[in-house]
Amino acid sequence: ARTQVAIVGGGPAGLMLSHLLRLRGVDAVVLEARPRDRVETRQRAGILEHGTVDALREVGADARMDELGLPHDGFELRFAGRSVRVDMQELTGHRVMIWAQTEVTKDLIALRLEQGEPLVFDAEVLSVSDVETDSPLVRYRHQGAEHELRADVVVGADGSYGPARRAIPEHLVRRFERVYPYSWLGILADVAPSSHELIYARGRTGFALASMRSPSVTRAYIQVPNGTDPQAWADEAIWDELAARFALDDGSFTLARGPITDKSVTPMRSMVTEPMRHGRLFLAGDAAHIVPPTGAKGLNLAVADVRVLAEALGEWFASKDERLIDAYSDTVLRRVWRASHFSWTMTTMLHVDPDGDPFDEQLALSHLHHIESSESARRALAENYRGLALGAV
Ligand code: DHB
Repeated sequence: ARTQVAIVGGGPAGLMLSHLLRLRGVDAVVLEARPRDRVETRQRAGILEHGTVDALREVGADARMDELGLPHDGFELRFAGRSVRVDMQELTGHRVMIWAQTEVTKDLIALRLEQGEPLVFDAEVLSVSDVETDSPLVRYRHQGAEHELRADVVVGADGSYGPARRAIPEHLVRRFERVYPYSWLGILADVAPSSHELIYARGRTGFALASMRSPSVTRAYIQVPNGTDPQAWADEAIWDELAARFALDDGSFTLARGPITDKSVTPMRSMVTEPMRHGRLFLAGDAAHIVPPTGAKGLNLAVADVRVLAEALGEWFASKDERLIDAYSDTVLRRVWRASHFSWTMTTMLHVDPDGDPFDEQLALSHLHHIESSESARRALAENYRGLALGAV
Protein backbone atom coordinates (compact mmCIF):
# COMPACT_ATOMS: atom_id res chain seq x y z
CA ALA A 1 0.00 0.00 0.00
CA ARG A 2 1.02 3.60 -0.50
CA THR A 3 0.00 6.93 1.06
CA GLN A 4 1.38 10.46 1.27
CA VAL A 5 2.00 10.47 5.03
CA ALA A 6 2.40 7.33 7.15
CA ILE A 7 1.67 8.33 10.75
CA VAL A 8 3.07 5.94 13.36
CA GLY A 9 1.00 6.42 16.51
CA GLY A 10 -2.69 7.11 17.06
CA GLY A 11 -2.50 9.23 20.19
CA PRO A 12 -3.47 12.90 20.18
CA ALA A 13 -0.44 13.95 18.07
CA GLY A 14 -0.92 11.40 15.29
CA LEU A 15 -4.69 11.72 15.19
CA MET A 16 -4.67 15.52 15.23
CA LEU A 17 -2.06 15.53 12.46
CA SER A 18 -4.19 13.23 10.30
CA HIS A 19 -7.10 15.68 10.57
CA LEU A 20 -5.02 18.80 9.94
CA LEU A 21 -3.49 17.14 6.85
CA ARG A 22 -6.89 16.13 5.52
CA LEU A 23 -7.99 19.78 5.73
CA ARG A 24 -4.98 20.57 3.54
CA GLY A 25 -5.81 17.86 1.02
CA VAL A 26 -3.04 15.48 2.14
CA ASP A 27 -3.73 11.74 2.58
CA ALA A 28 -2.48 9.86 5.62
CA VAL A 29 -2.66 6.42 7.20
CA VAL A 30 -2.56 6.24 11.01
CA LEU A 31 -1.08 3.07 12.58
CA GLU A 32 -1.70 2.56 16.30
CA ALA A 33 -0.06 -0.32 18.20
CA ARG A 34 -2.69 -0.61 20.93
CA PRO A 35 -6.37 -1.55 20.75
CA ARG A 36 -8.90 1.28 20.50
CA ASP A 37 -10.30 0.91 24.04
CA ARG A 38 -6.81 1.17 25.53
CA VAL A 39 -6.13 4.46 23.70
CA GLU A 40 -9.49 5.82 24.81
CA THR A 41 -9.30 4.95 28.49
CA ARG A 42 -5.70 5.39 29.64
CA GLN A 43 -5.74 8.30 32.10
CA ARG A 44 -3.45 11.11 30.95
CA ALA A 45 -3.49 14.90 30.78
CA GLY A 46 -6.38 17.20 31.58
CA ILE A 47 -5.52 20.81 30.66
CA LEU A 48 -5.81 22.29 27.18
CA GLU A 49 -4.15 25.56 26.22
CA HIS A 50 -6.23 27.86 24.04
CA GLY A 51 -4.06 26.92 21.02
CA THR A 52 -4.98 23.28 21.56
CA VAL A 53 -8.65 24.23 21.87
CA ASP A 54 -8.34 26.18 18.59
CA ALA A 55 -6.88 23.12 16.86
CA LEU A 56 -9.79 20.95 18.05
CA ARG A 57 -12.17 23.58 16.68
CA GLU A 58 -10.33 23.74 13.35
CA VAL A 59 -10.70 19.99 12.77
CA GLY A 60 -14.30 19.86 14.05
CA ALA A 61 -13.70 17.85 17.23
CA ASP A 62 -15.10 20.53 19.53
CA ALA A 63 -18.80 19.73 20.09
CA ARG A 64 -18.45 17.59 23.24
CA MET A 65 -15.62 19.80 24.52
CA ASP A 66 -17.89 22.85 24.31
CA GLU A 67 -20.69 20.98 26.05
CA LEU A 68 -18.70 19.24 28.79
CA GLY A 69 -15.28 20.92 29.01
CA LEU A 70 -14.65 23.28 31.90
CA PRO A 71 -13.06 26.65 31.03
CA HIS A 72 -10.79 27.91 33.84
CA ASP A 73 -9.78 31.55 34.30
CA GLY A 74 -7.12 30.89 36.92
CA PHE A 75 -5.53 28.49 39.39
CA GLU A 76 -4.24 28.50 42.93
CA LEU A 77 -0.80 27.96 44.40
CA ARG A 78 -0.52 26.90 48.04
CA PHE A 79 2.53 26.87 50.29
CA ALA A 80 3.31 27.54 53.95
CA GLY A 81 -0.40 27.28 54.80
CA ARG A 82 -1.47 30.13 52.49
CA SER A 83 -2.89 30.56 49.02
CA VAL A 84 -2.02 32.70 45.98
CA ARG A 85 -4.39 32.94 43.05
CA VAL A 86 -3.02 33.30 39.50
CA ASP A 87 -5.68 34.94 37.36
CA MET A 88 -4.69 33.95 33.82
CA GLN A 89 -7.66 35.64 32.21
CA GLU A 90 -6.88 38.99 33.82
CA LEU A 91 -3.09 38.74 33.45
CA THR A 92 -2.93 37.37 29.89
CA GLY A 93 -6.40 37.62 28.33
CA HIS A 94 -6.59 33.85 27.87
CA ARG A 95 -7.89 30.92 29.83
CA VAL A 96 -7.42 27.16 29.65
CA MET A 97 -9.89 24.30 29.31
CA ILE A 98 -10.23 21.20 31.47
CA TRP A 99 -10.98 18.47 28.97
CA ALA A 100 -9.33 15.10 29.44
CA GLN A 101 -6.95 13.59 26.91
CA THR A 102 -9.12 10.45 26.90
CA GLU A 103 -12.05 12.58 25.64
CA VAL A 104 -9.91 14.43 23.07
CA THR A 105 -8.72 11.07 21.75
CA LYS A 106 -12.23 9.59 21.63
CA ASP A 107 -13.49 12.53 19.56
CA LEU A 108 -10.53 12.49 17.16
CA ILE A 109 -10.94 8.73 16.62
CA ALA A 110 -14.72 8.96 16.11
CA LEU A 111 -14.28 11.76 13.58
CA ARG A 112 -11.61 9.86 11.64
CA LEU A 113 -13.76 6.71 11.44
CA GLU A 114 -16.84 8.76 10.52
CA GLN A 115 -14.88 10.24 7.62
CA GLY A 116 -13.89 6.75 6.50
CA GLU A 117 -10.20 7.70 6.63
CA PRO A 118 -7.54 5.05 7.37
CA LEU A 119 -6.83 4.39 11.05
CA VAL A 120 -5.56 0.94 12.02
CA PHE A 121 -5.55 -0.26 15.65
CA ASP A 122 -3.48 -3.23 16.85
CA ALA A 123 -0.92 -2.35 14.17
CA GLU A 124 2.48 -3.22 15.59
CA VAL A 125 5.17 -1.33 13.68
CA LEU A 126 8.15 -3.61 13.04
CA SER A 127 10.43 -1.13 11.28
CA VAL A 128 10.69 2.30 9.73
CA SER A 129 13.29 2.40 6.97
CA ASP A 130 14.46 4.14 3.79
CA VAL A 131 13.91 7.54 5.43
CA GLU A 132 16.90 8.93 3.53
CA THR A 133 15.18 8.11 0.22
CA ASP A 134 12.07 9.77 -1.24
CA SER A 135 10.02 6.65 -0.55
CA PRO A 136 10.32 5.60 3.11
CA LEU A 137 8.83 2.29 4.25
CA VAL A 138 6.88 1.24 7.33
CA ARG A 139 6.50 -2.48 8.02
CA TYR A 140 3.83 -3.54 10.50
CA ARG A 141 1.97 -6.57 11.78
CA HIS A 142 -1.82 -6.56 11.95
CA GLN A 143 -4.10 -9.53 12.74
CA GLY A 144 -1.26 -11.98 12.32
CA ALA A 145 -0.14 -10.77 8.87
CA GLU A 146 2.78 -8.52 7.92
CA HIS A 147 2.11 -5.42 5.84
CA GLU A 148 4.21 -2.82 4.03
CA LEU A 149 3.23 0.82 3.77
CA ARG A 150 5.20 3.11 1.43
CA ALA A 151 4.83 6.84 1.86
CA ASP A 152 6.33 10.16 0.81
CA VAL A 153 6.84 11.02 4.47
CA VAL A 154 6.75 9.11 7.78
CA VAL A 155 5.75 10.85 11.00
CA GLY A 156 6.80 9.23 14.28
CA ALA A 157 4.10 10.15 16.81
CA ASP A 158 4.50 6.88 18.70
CA GLY A 159 5.46 8.06 22.17
CA SER A 160 8.70 7.90 24.09
CA TYR A 161 9.12 4.12 23.72
CA GLY A 162 8.00 3.91 20.08
CA PRO A 163 10.13 2.46 17.28
CA ALA A 164 10.05 5.42 14.81
CA ARG A 165 12.79 7.43 16.51
CA ARG A 166 15.26 4.58 16.04
CA ALA A 167 15.26 5.21 12.26
CA ILE A 168 17.49 8.23 12.93
CA PRO A 169 21.15 7.09 13.00
CA GLU A 170 22.40 7.18 16.58
CA HIS A 171 25.43 9.35 15.79
CA LEU A 172 23.18 12.17 14.55
CA VAL A 173 21.01 12.26 17.69
CA ARG A 174 21.51 14.44 20.75
CA ARG A 175 19.58 13.33 23.78
CA PHE A 176 18.97 15.50 26.84
CA GLU A 177 17.50 14.03 29.99
CA ARG A 178 16.56 14.93 33.56
CA VAL A 179 15.16 12.33 35.95
CA TYR A 180 13.44 13.77 39.01
CA PRO A 181 13.77 11.99 42.38
CA TYR A 182 9.99 11.57 42.85
CA SER A 183 6.84 10.31 41.11
CA TRP A 184 3.13 11.19 41.15
CA LEU A 185 0.44 8.94 42.55
CA GLY A 186 -2.71 9.95 40.64
CA ILE A 187 -6.28 9.13 41.58
CA LEU A 188 -9.74 9.46 40.08
CA ALA A 189 -12.58 9.66 42.60
CA ASP A 190 -16.37 9.84 42.41
CA VAL A 191 -16.71 13.03 44.41
CA ALA A 192 -17.25 16.67 43.42
CA PRO A 193 -14.01 18.71 43.26
CA SER A 194 -13.19 20.46 46.55
CA SER A 195 -12.28 23.66 44.74
CA HIS A 196 -13.69 25.17 41.53
CA GLU A 197 -10.12 25.85 40.31
CA LEU A 198 -6.97 23.71 40.25
CA ILE A 199 -4.72 23.83 43.32
CA TYR A 200 -0.97 23.26 43.03
CA ALA A 201 0.42 22.85 46.55
CA ARG A 202 3.86 22.61 48.06
CA GLY A 203 2.95 20.82 51.29
CA ARG A 204 5.39 20.11 54.09
CA THR A 205 5.67 16.47 52.99
CA GLY A 206 5.55 17.16 49.25
CA PHE A 207 3.59 18.28 46.21
CA ALA A 208 -0.15 17.81 45.75
CA LEU A 209 -2.47 18.78 42.89
CA ALA A 210 -6.23 19.04 43.00
CA SER A 211 -7.82 18.78 39.57
CA MET A 212 -11.09 17.47 38.16
CA ARG A 213 -12.65 15.65 35.26
CA SER A 214 -16.23 16.89 35.64
CA PRO A 215 -18.46 18.54 38.26
CA SER A 216 -18.75 15.13 39.93
CA VAL A 217 -15.30 13.58 39.37
CA THR A 218 -12.13 14.61 41.22
CA ARG A 219 -8.66 14.04 39.79
CA ALA A 220 -5.79 14.49 42.27
CA TYR A 221 -2.10 13.74 42.58
CA ILE A 222 0.48 13.50 45.36
CA GLN A 223 4.24 13.36 45.22
CA VAL A 224 5.48 9.88 46.22
CA PRO A 225 8.93 8.23 46.19
CA ASN A 226 10.12 6.66 42.93
CA GLY A 227 9.21 3.00 42.69
CA THR A 228 6.00 3.39 44.73
CA ASP A 229 3.37 0.68 44.19
CA PRO A 230 0.00 2.48 43.90
CA GLN A 231 -1.81 -0.44 45.55
CA ALA A 232 0.39 0.02 48.64
CA TRP A 233 -1.51 3.26 49.35
CA ALA A 234 -4.83 2.75 51.14
CA ASP A 235 -7.59 5.15 50.02
CA GLU A 236 -7.85 6.85 53.43
CA ALA A 237 -4.07 7.38 53.54
CA ILE A 238 -4.22 9.15 50.16
CA TRP A 239 -7.05 11.44 51.31
CA ASP A 240 -5.21 12.18 54.58
CA GLU A 241 -2.07 13.13 52.70
CA LEU A 242 -4.01 15.32 50.24
CA ALA A 243 -5.80 17.06 53.11
CA ALA A 244 -2.52 17.75 54.93
CA ARG A 245 -0.81 19.15 51.82
CA PHE A 246 -3.73 21.44 50.86
CA ALA A 247 -4.42 22.65 54.44
CA LEU A 248 -4.66 26.41 54.98
CA ASP A 249 -3.59 28.03 58.27
CA ASP A 250 -6.95 29.80 58.62
CA GLY A 251 -8.69 26.40 58.49
CA SER A 252 -10.88 27.53 55.57
CA PHE A 253 -10.22 24.52 53.32
CA THR A 254 -12.05 21.21 53.56
CA LEU A 255 -11.24 18.29 51.28
CA ALA A 256 -14.22 16.29 50.00
CA ARG A 257 -13.55 12.53 50.01
CA GLY A 258 -15.20 9.79 47.98
CA PRO A 259 -14.68 6.38 46.41
CA ILE A 260 -11.39 6.14 44.50
CA THR A 261 -11.89 4.46 41.10
CA ASP A 262 -8.38 4.57 39.63
CA LYS A 263 -4.82 4.71 41.05
CA SER A 264 -1.59 4.95 39.10
CA VAL A 265 2.01 6.10 39.52
CA THR A 266 3.86 8.25 36.99
CA PRO A 267 7.60 8.85 37.21
CA MET A 268 8.73 12.43 36.62
CA ARG A 269 11.25 13.00 33.89
CA SER A 270 12.22 15.36 31.12
CA MET A 271 13.69 14.24 27.79
CA VAL A 272 14.44 15.99 24.52
CA THR A 273 15.88 14.37 21.40
CA GLU A 274 17.28 16.51 18.63
CA PRO A 275 16.85 16.80 15.70
CA MET A 276 13.15 16.09 15.23
CA ARG A 277 13.60 15.39 11.53
CA HIS A 278 15.86 13.14 9.53
CA GLY A 279 15.32 12.93 5.78
CA ARG A 280 11.68 11.99 5.23
CA LEU A 281 11.06 11.13 8.91
CA PHE A 282 9.55 13.72 11.25
CA LEU A 283 9.02 13.19 14.99
CA ALA A 284 6.15 14.76 16.94
CA GLY A 285 5.02 14.77 20.57
CA ASP A 286 6.34 12.30 23.17
CA ALA A 287 8.38 10.47 20.50
CA ALA A 288 10.78 13.43 20.66
CA HIS A 289 10.20 15.01 24.06
CA ILE A 290 8.83 14.28 27.51
CA VAL A 291 8.10 16.88 30.19
CA PRO A 292 7.20 16.25 33.82
CA PRO A 293 3.43 16.76 34.21
CA THR A 294 3.60 19.69 36.66
CA GLY A 295 3.17 22.41 34.01
CA ALA A 296 0.45 20.52 32.06
CA LYS A 297 2.49 20.86 28.86
CA GLY A 298 2.90 17.36 27.36
CA LEU A 299 -0.33 17.11 25.37
CA ASN A 300 -0.20 20.79 24.41
CA LEU A 301 3.35 20.47 23.06
CA ALA A 302 2.32 17.45 21.00
CA VAL A 303 -0.54 19.39 19.44
CA ALA A 304 1.68 22.43 18.82
CA ASP A 305 4.21 20.17 17.02
CA VAL A 306 1.62 18.81 14.62
CA ARG A 307 0.09 22.23 13.94
CA VAL A 308 3.50 23.39 12.73
CA LEU A 309 4.12 20.12 10.90
CA ALA A 310 0.74 20.09 9.12
CA GLU A 311 1.39 23.61 7.83
CA ALA A 312 4.89 22.65 6.67
CA LEU A 313 3.84 19.40 4.97
CA GLY A 314 0.79 21.07 3.44
CA GLU A 315 3.04 23.70 1.86
CA TRP A 316 5.52 21.09 0.65
CA PHE A 317 2.92 18.80 -0.92
CA ALA A 318 1.21 21.79 -2.56
CA SER A 319 4.26 23.56 -4.00
CA LYS A 320 7.40 21.48 -3.23
CA ASP A 321 8.58 24.49 -1.20
CA GLU A 322 10.93 22.99 1.40
CA ARG A 323 11.42 26.02 3.62
CA LEU A 324 8.88 25.11 6.28
CA ILE A 325 9.77 21.42 6.49
CA ASP A 326 13.45 22.39 6.72
CA ALA A 327 12.63 24.76 9.60
CA TYR A 328 10.33 22.29 11.41
CA SER A 329 12.78 20.86 13.92
CA ASP A 330 14.28 24.20 14.98
CA THR A 331 10.86 25.88 15.10
CA VAL A 332 9.21 23.36 17.39
CA LEU A 333 12.29 22.75 19.56
CA ARG A 334 12.19 26.39 20.69
CA ARG A 335 8.74 25.75 22.19
CA VAL A 336 9.85 22.36 23.53
CA TRP A 337 12.70 23.97 25.45
CA ARG A 338 10.46 26.80 26.71
CA ALA A 339 8.03 24.18 28.04
CA SER A 340 10.88 22.08 29.44
CA HIS A 341 12.15 25.06 31.38
CA PHE A 342 8.68 26.01 32.59
CA SER A 343 7.94 22.45 33.65
CA TRP A 344 11.27 22.26 35.50
CA THR A 345 10.46 25.54 37.25
CA MET A 346 7.01 24.40 38.35
CA THR A 347 8.32 20.98 39.37
CA THR A 348 11.25 22.13 41.48
CA MET A 349 9.29 25.03 43.00
CA LEU A 350 6.47 22.78 44.21
CA HIS A 351 8.09 19.44 45.10
CA VAL A 352 10.01 18.57 48.24
CA ASP A 353 13.41 17.11 47.39
CA PRO A 354 13.74 13.81 49.30
CA ASP A 355 17.44 14.50 49.74
CA GLY A 356 16.39 17.72 51.45
CA ASP A 357 18.90 20.15 50.01
CA PRO A 358 18.20 23.24 52.17
CA PHE A 359 19.56 25.71 49.60
CA ASP A 360 17.18 24.40 46.91
CA GLU A 361 14.29 24.58 49.37
CA GLN A 362 14.96 28.27 50.09
CA LEU A 363 15.14 29.01 46.35
CA ALA A 364 11.76 27.31 45.81
CA LEU A 365 10.17 29.26 48.66
CA SER A 366 11.70 32.51 47.42
CA HIS A 367 10.20 31.92 43.98
CA LEU A 368 6.77 31.36 45.58
CA HIS A 369 7.15 34.54 47.64
CA HIS A 370 8.04 36.45 44.47
CA ILE A 371 4.92 35.13 42.70
CA GLU A 372 2.87 36.10 45.76
CA SER A 373 4.16 39.67 45.89
CA SER A 374 4.78 40.59 42.24
CA GLU A 375 2.15 40.93 39.54
CA SER A 376 4.79 40.66 36.81
CA ALA A 377 6.02 37.37 38.29
CA ARG A 378 2.43 36.11 38.27
CA ARG A 379 2.02 37.27 34.68
CA ALA A 380 5.16 35.43 33.55
CA LEU A 381 3.88 32.26 35.21
CA ALA A 382 0.39 32.71 33.73
CA GLU A 383 1.75 33.34 30.22
CA ASN A 384 3.73 30.10 30.26
CA TYR A 385 0.89 28.13 31.82
CA ARG A 386 -1.83 29.20 29.41
CA GLY A 387 0.65 28.70 26.54
CA LEU A 388 2.44 31.00 24.14
CA ALA A 389 1.03 31.57 20.65
CA LEU A 390 2.63 29.67 17.75
CA GLY A 391 5.50 31.81 16.54
CA ALA A 392 5.70 33.74 19.82
CA VAL A 393 8.27 31.52 21.52
C1 DHB B 1 -3.84 17.61 35.39
C2 DHB B 1 -2.57 17.12 35.18
C3 DHB B 1 -1.50 17.98 35.26
O1 DHB B 1 -0.26 17.53 35.06
C4 DHB B 1 -1.68 19.32 35.56
O2 DHB B 1 -0.61 20.12 35.64
C5 DHB B 1 -2.94 19.79 35.76
C6 DHB B 1 -4.03 18.93 35.67
C7 DHB B 1 -4.99 16.68 35.31
O3 DHB B 1 -4.77 15.50 35.02
O4 DHB B 1 -6.12 17.12 35.54
